[in-house]
Amino acid sequence: MKLLWYAMCSLFIAQTEVKGCIYDGFKVYELTSKIHSSALDLYRMVKNESQYVLLSGRGTIVMVHPEAQAEFLHLLENNQWEHRVLNHDVGLDLSNAFETNRNLTNLYPYKGHAGTDRYYTFDEINRYIEDLAQQYPSRVFVKTVGKSYEGRTMKTIRITNGDGRAKKNVILMDGGIHAREWIAHAAVLYAIGELSNNYQKHAQLLQDYDWVILPVVNPDGYEFTQLSADNRFWRKTRQPINESCIGTDGNRNFDFHWNETGAYWDPCSTIYPGPKAFSEPETIVVRDLIQSLAGRGKMYLTLHSYGQYILYPYGYTNALPVTWRDLEEVARAGANAIMEATGTRYKVGCSGSSIYPIAGASDDYAFNAGFPISFTMELPPGGANKFDPPASDIDRLVKEAWVGIEAMARKVIQKYPLKDSTVL
Ligand code: ARG
Ligand code: ZN
Repeated sequence: MKLLWYAMCSLFIAQTEVKGCIYDGFKVYELTSKIHSSALDLYRMVKNESQYVLLSGRGTIVMVHPEAQAEFLHLLENNQWEHRVLNHDVGLDLSNAFETNRNLTNLYPYKGHAGTDRYYTFDEINRYIEDLAQQYPSRVFVKTVGKSYEGRTMKTIRITNGDGRAKKNVILMDGGIHAREWIAHAAVLYAIGELSNNYQKHAQLLQDYDWVILPVVNPDGYEFTQLSADNRFWRKTRQPINESCIGTDGNRNFDFHWNETGAYWDPCSTIYPGPKAFSEPETIVVRDLIQSLAGRGKMYLTLHSYGQYILYPYGYTNALPVTWRDLEEVARAGANAIMEATGTRYKVGCSGSSIYPIAGASDDYAFNAGFPISFTMELPPGGANKFDPPASDIDRLVKEAWVGIEAMARKVIQKYPLKDSTVL
């Protein structure tokens, strides 16, 4: 498929140390059409598919190689697509963003607290949750839950109010199943900080509920995107599929209507669902967390970017589950709270009909496993490439997301009180 080159070029570059960035001269186009909804058919007509990189699943945001610009404009015109150039030189912006983050890392080295000043590495995130557990030993607990394909230790943080009552209800949250969606990792990190450090303020959120959080579902992918600007758009895991293709889309790899829709059966595609369901150690970690908490788990929340959506099941079809009103009510509480606080409009709806049907995603899996509320929260776009809100935007975006998360949690706590809450 067309994304073959995308996967291979990163390897090539890693070995040859070319100066500059492979995306130098690439342009990003946003496409709209009165007659088409997906641009995927358009790419079937391109001469050299390796010159195109899809940035949105529906194919309406695409990066185009400098040498393919004329061909692409021609295709757009002949097929009644309108376009807007979002970025005139992807490479330049990426190099600048990497330079900025490097400088910020020097300016704000990790010293026991991960703030909103920059994007943190996987190791720093792990250190941060360990440090919180050490700082608050009676309330905050870190647990190793597995290893990524490349052997990175995956840990959850469980945040409680320290009263020691077992069997509370649970809110399960994760982020970063898609490597390049850095603002999702940052938003999860902020939620962790809020619940741990400001626990008195959030007493109500922790009264009858524990929060279990896996901050980075795809550590290998995240590390890879941070290695160099050339890898910035990597989305998948890093387990090789064959000699030329690496990685599986973790959010197509769950065993619920797996591979039925919304994925490409091409190992080099960015939305490859994996050779089989749960082929990835990282999705197995999430599966086991979901299964171990089913029953107590009342809300599963997985953070992505971008889109500015709060999406609920089903994702694999545009049919609604019978309890859709509950999902809608909680999601609305989140979107309304955000609207009130900042004026940002998060759209609310069922995944399958709001975006497009995608099977094998973690939200459907958790919902089917018994979490009555299960959401994908798509944070806002940022930066010229949509996936890279500049570091200076982190603070605003993650605080805004937290407003929504907090409001949804309140609603969940009200709707699903702890059954046996008598404290003896
Ligand atoms: N952008 C997300 C993805 O492509 C959306 C997932 C929504 N969930 C769903 N079950 N369709 O993975
Ligand atoms: Zn995503």
